[in-house]
Amino acid sequence: MKASRRGHERLPVVAFLLASAASIALVVVFATGGDAQLEGALLAVALAGIGIGLASWSHELTGNDVEIEARPPVGSAAQPREEFVVTLEGSSRPLSRRRVLIGSASAAGASLLAALVLPARSLGPSPGRALFRTPWKAGRRLVTPDGTALRAAELGLGNIVTVFPEGAVDADEAATLLIRVEADRLELPPDRLAGAPDGLVAYSKICTHVGCPVGLYRETTHELVCPCHQSTFDVLRGAQPTFGPATRALPQLPIGVDAEGYLIALGDYPEPVGPGFWNRGT
Ligand code: FES
Repeated sequence: MKASRRGHERLPVVAFLLASAASIALVVVFATGGDAQLEGALLAVALAGIGIGLASWSHELTGNDVEIEARPPVGSAAQPREEFVVTLEGSSRPLSRRRVLIGSASAAGASLLAALVLPARSLGPSPGRALFRTPWKAGRRLVTPDGTALRAAELGLGNIVTVFPEGAVDADEAATLLIRVEADRLELPPDRLAGAPDGLVAYSKICTHVGCPVGLYRETTHELVCPCHQSTFDVLRGAQPTFGPATRALPQLPIGVDAEGYLIALGDYPEPVGPGFWNRGT
């Protein structure tokens, strides 16, 4: 009976130590390359250990026994006094045991916390403002992927070409579609119309759905189509989506013509290109 009670008393400590061991093992597995299934199993053991430890500890504190105590006569007979002394002396045992319990519970909590914080390193470095900017800057020439600068006169009606900022042809986020349409058919707000000289309009090539390159231009309907999920964008109306899962227009790059007739950017995109992200704003 006593042995079983002792075993019951040890249960929370054993559970907390087991949780600590599982959490430490989780850290080790993660740091040495990781194994999703093993990590999941260790996390389950750690959480179960803490849960069992807390449950059995609280069960022990509250107890299940119903005891009805007869009101004893008030007095200070020898026997009650002796019993009181025995009880008082016995109370030192739970105190040290409580330390063990608190220590093991703290170790389990701390090691589990470490195991949960460590995977945050997998997120990699913060992108900072990189998602909000591209290499486009005012005055930067529009060049083809092989670095050739483009003159406005080189692009005929219905032509489309992918362009990059001069000196940054590897910057995927800056990929831009340059299209010439009938200038009088463009339906853009005046400030955006100023960035589309003679019907030359430039939109980001990165689909606002999940970021595929928008590659297909239907000249007859003036539509850009993304091959991934068929999102369709109206070139004449600011590349607003007209079909498919994309809900945002392709950002428009404001462009102009320099003194030598070359096409240049008038600045960066006024909004982030590509799919939405959690702090993109509206
Ligand atoms: S990525 Fe373009 S439609 Fe899905």
